[in-house]
Amino acid sequence: MIESTIPSSFPRRKLTVVGSGNVGATAAFLAAQKELGDIVLLDVMDGIPQGKALDMFEASPIQGYDVAVTGTQDYADTANSDLVIITAGIARKPGMSRDDLLATNVNIVVEVTRSIVHHSPNCIILVVTNPLDAMVYTAKRVSGFPRERVLGMAGVLDAARMRSFIAQRLNVSIGVVSALVLGGHGDTMVPLPRYSTVAGVPITQLMDEAAITEICQRTADGGAEIVKLLKTGSAFYAPGAAVVEMAEAILRDKHSVLPCAALLQGEYGVDGFYMGVPCKLGGRGLESVLELDLQPNETAALKCSLESVQALVAQVDALGHF
Ligand code: NAI
Ligand code: 2OP
Repeated sequence: MIESTIPSSFPRRKLTVVGSGNVGATAAFLAAQKELGDIVLLDVMDGIPQGKALDMFEASPIQGYDVAVTGTQDYADTANSDLVIITAGIARKPGMSRDDLLATNVNIVVEVTRSIVHHSPNCIILVVTNPLDAMVYTAKRVSGFPRERVLGMAGVLDAARMRSFIAQRLNVSIGVVSALVLGGHGDTMVPLPRYSTVAGVPITQLMDEAAITEICQRTADGGAEIVKLLKTGSAFYAPGAAVVEMAEAILRDKHSVLPCAALLQGEYGVDGFYMGVPCKLGGRGLESVLELDLQPNETAALKCSLESVQALVAQVDALGHF
């Protein structure tokens, strides 16, 4: 028998993913491959999280990761999670906008957040469920956690899409391309070409205006492009990878700078709303919000995006959950 009575000085981290659908299962699988911690997959669907978790665990001898992956319907199994990713909710079908999901998903996010907080009062929450900026606001209000511990994923995904389109257009390695997309995760998101670079050179010096406009529009339409192709749901590989990049920054205390939906408290002239901005993420969650110098047209675009977020938040507030 192999047994030790010596307590480990490196306790394993615990990561819960709520919602074992397309995004949740993809995120759990990627997090397992990165060995971010032991993983609990929770869903209301009987057998689905258990089946997917077992399948992932059975992939571990082949993939070489050494973490526990379990599936459950019971929040008691998520107790004392370090980090919880919320992907529970309905996804878009063709013809729907992210905002059409609000009425259904707000009830789900309220219920899920209450259960998470009850069992993991010290966790950090990353929200993925759409409409993102309103759902992360909901999780913040319900949890009562400080802003450092409730963040939303959108900017990493939107920037990844923009990076992909830039690399494709210029025929350069994806590794040398960076991009920045701020604002709400909707049609009014704000891709920033001046802050998008190839090996440090802004794309404004590498492409004409028409090409840049096309890339920015395709980025803003990126979610809808996938929905149109899939017909039965929305994107999940890139979204799963995006939220795992945020989770890794936190669980490995990396001090990464990533575009995330953060509760703004005066930054960018905004107070009390979530919006996508560059954030430093580390072990405590949000470490700081980076403020960029924006030109008048960029500030105007951000203001327009904020107005969309505010309209969604007003709908959430009107439901009287808080
Ligand atoms: P999906 O339909 O494949 O999975 C959703 C899962 O949530 C289902 O398995 C369902 O049973 C579960 N669920 C529903 N109510 C629940 C509850 N009360 N507790 C626990 N689980 C519950 O959907 P998918 O593709 O995984 O998308 C999930 C959400 O993420 C959608 O709202 C989608 O719009 C959003 N999304 C957001 C992105 C972003 O950039 N922020 C990117 C991609 C998706
Ligand atoms: C996306 O951008 C649906 O928000 C999701 O793919």
